[in-house]
Parts: sequence; C-alpha cells; structure tokens
Amino acid sequence: MKFFIDTANLQQITEAQDLGVLDGVTTNPSLMAKEGITGEDNIINHYKKICEIVDGDVSAEVIATDFEGMVKEGEALAKLHKQIVVKVPMIKDGIKAIKYFSDKGIRTNCTLVFSAGQALLAAKAGATYVSPFIGRLDDISTDGLNLIAEIRMIYDNYGFETQILAASVRHTMHIIDCAKLGADVMTGPLSSIESLLKHPLTDIGLAQFLADYKKGNS
Ligand code: E4P
Repeated sequence: MKFFIDTANLQQITEAQDLGVLDGVTTNPSLMAKEGITGEDNIINHYKKICEIVDGDVSAEVIATDFEGMVKEGEALAKLHKQIVVKVPMIKDGIKAIKYFSDKGIRTNCTLVFSAGQALLAAKAGATYVSPFIGRLDDISTDGLNLIAEIRMIYDNYGFETQILAASVRHTMHIIDCAKLGADVMTGPLSSIESLLKHPLTDIGLAQFLADYKKGNS
C-alpha cells in the first residue's frame, strides 16, 4: 500500500519524507490556499518545490471545468515535472479530459469520487488513480469504507489497472481498514501516518527494557 500525504505544507511533506515511508503527495486548491499559496506562478513554483522534496507522485489539480481548459492546464502541469499527476474532477468534461490525457500518456488522478459508478467511469476513461473521499462520506453518515470495498470488487472483476487512492482519510483506523480492503494508496494528514506508530504497550515495554538495562549496567 502506498502512503501519500495530503497537504501542501512543505515542512510536513519533508517530515513525512524523512520518515522514509512516503510514496507521494496529494494537493488540492483548498490545501494550497491554506498555505497562503496564491497566483499561478506561486502555485507552479510550489509544485516544483514539492517534487524536489519527494520521490513519488505529486497530484496537481486543474482549476478549469471545461474540456479545453482542463487539457491546456493539465498539459502545462504535466510538463512541470515527471512526478506530476494531473488531478481532474469527476465531471463530464473531466472524464473526457482523463481519456484525452490517458491516450497521450499523461497520468491522472480522478478526484471528488463519491460512488462506485463514478469510479467505474474513471477507470473506463483510463485514470491512473481514482480518489474516493471516504472521510467526507462518513461526515454525511454514509459508509466511506464500503465504497472502497465496492470499487475494489468492480476493478478486480474486470482487471482495471486504475489504482484506488483512498482520499479524505482522517485517522489511523481509516488507513488500517483501507489496507484490509485492498486500497492501493491512501492519502491523509501527517498525523494519521504518525499515529500508526503509537501503542501504550510499546512505550511501557521500552521504558522497562531501558530501566532493566540501567540496573544491570550501573
Ligand atoms: C484528496 O486528494 C483530497 O485532497 C483530500 O483527501 C480531501 O480531504 P478532506 O476531506 O479532508 O478535505
């Protein structure tokens, strides 16, 4: 399972990269705005900086919502760096754009996916990644994890190569459940990755080992 970090914060991306388990980064216009990154040139420079920090795929989202606009923006984003994956919203023109990019060998991440039918369309169009937003489904009392299970079954039934990128991950149990269900990738905040480390018995056990060592070596 690949681990992506869902942020545009360079410090957090560096921390996750330094941990040695990071496979990529997802961003979106809200995450960019949260870091105060505005204006086309600044946004482009920020993508370049992210690509310099990580070794893996970096999703960069188009702002246009019409086919021509998405193609223009996506082609420019893809040229920025070989690690860039063009993030395209799940709308009619988005599906057309994903098909266009797929035919041209440009990798895509179909974002804002909330149903199995949307995921099926994204795979048919040739998306590299599909991003079901599990946390936002949970937020409206719908089972986000069930969507991961449905997409896994559909993709396996037909051998679709589109990778399931579980997005809008909010906590460690989301990561563990997505791993059990066979999601190819998860993207979440640094806190969700670091929380995987924690167990009270680890802390108690380590304290005991160190105390016993001290006793025997003092
Ligand atoms: C995915 O690519 C999105 O950036 C992200 O996971 C959305 O998460 P949120 O629902 O926490 O905003």
